[in-house]
Amino acid sequence: MSKVRIGILGSRFQADCIAAAVKAVAEEAEVVAVASPTKAHAADFATRHGIARAYTDHRELLRDPAVELVWITVPNRLHAQITIDAAQAGKHVVCEKPLCLTIEEADAMIDACRQAGVLLLYAEELFFAPKYVKAKQLADEGAFGRVHLVKQGEKHSGPHSEWFWDVEQSGGGAVMDLACHGIAFCWWFLGKPTITSVYSQMATQVHHDRTQGDDEAITLIEFGNGATGMVESSWNRPGGMDDCIEVFGNKGQTYADLLMGNALPTYSEVGFGYAVEKAATTRGWTYPVFEEHWNYGFPQEVRHFARCVRGKETPISDGETGRVVLEALYAAYASAGLGRKVVLPFRPKGIGKPIDLWKAPERAKAVV
Ligand SMILES: NC(=O)c1ccc[n+]([C@@H]2O[C@H](COP(=O)([O-])OP(=O)(O)OC[C@H]3O[C@@H](n4cnc5c(N)ncnc54)[C@H](O)[C@@H]3O)[C@@H](O)[C@H]2O)c1
Repeated sequence: MSKVRIGILGSRFQADCIAAAVKAVAEEAEVVAVASPTKAHAADFATRHGIARAYTDHRELLRDPAVELVWITVPNRLHAQITIDAAQAGKHVVCEKPLCLTIEEADAMIDACRQAGVLLLYAEELFFAPKYVKAKQLADEGAFGRVHLVKQGEKHSGPHSEWFWDVEQSGGGAVMDLACHGIAFCWWFLGKPTITSVYSQMATQVHHDRTQGDDEAITLIEFGNGATGMVESSWNRPGGMDDCIEVFGNKGQTYADLLMGNALPTYSEVGFGYAVEKAATTRGWTYPVFEEHWNYGFPQEVRHFARCVRGKETPISDGETGRVVLEALYAAYASAGLGRKVVLPFRPKGIGKPIDLWKAPERAKAVV
């Protein structure tokens, strides 16, 4: 199988992660181009990762005949337009989470890719995280009997880039940024059942000075098969990234801690280079994680998507997956605005971004 030739859009946090993940599965794919608006950033990224071409405009990259698959790692508000541009240029697309800001955009992205005959793949790496994949294998084998509760939590001290804090660019706070993983995870883990309702309790507990967004939330999801999902999202937990699941059935349960559970409990008085994403210090007791990208599932995700492009595998995460998650995110924000659970299907029209339904509950009332 020839390597799938990837163009990365963006040159910072997630772009670095994907470029490293591609190298880990070099037999499947290679990065041949990058585009990022600041010339020096694009050039540095290309040098750092040994990439042949660096552009400052994503449309230049889309005209590059060498690029087969575009991997979008840019701020959320740009996902929809860039996906549509990429589809029209005949490129397959991987879009990082969340898919986009509105349900209308999600529909347009899916339609554009379908019409162009290209794949729209949704990058949810938790579907590939080895520990979580193992938990799902056990559940599917019947190890826990009938699974009735799945919990996922993702918590850290807050995003690294300014745009995440600006709800006009991100679409929301911790729920938009982190619960998108948890909602996708619970849904996938349970075998992709219909989501029947969402209830979310959210607040801005700490970061009032930085954001209009929520920074702390608990979201409950009811599924058509009778199971419940519980998703905890926080931008208020210092000490490094925390990503955990718990699974309960009538015959058993399992617990998995993706980062501290794949780390060395370590004490150092002088500190060292790097422990884990978003850890402020490496002094004292810390949890340096090993094989971080592999434990998250990024290289496995790249391998799967590359094989999908070559027609060897069928996507387990695509544009429709992203739309399922986005609908639940809208329901979560509407629920927080209304103070009660919101029943799905929930496809509000003409709402600019999910958080609007929390900030203006009268708009949520008009659409439920
Ligand atoms: N799957 C995950 O676990 C995960 C982790 C982090 C981020 N993400 C997602 O990836 C996306 C990017 O997040 P990030 O953390 O890398 O943000 P970031 O701020 O670190 O990087 C964003 C990059 O996009 C570039 N950019 C902005 N406009 C552009 C344009 N028009 N064309 C090309 N590049 C442009 C910026 O210059 C920057 O290089 C977001 O949607 C985020 O939610 C996913």
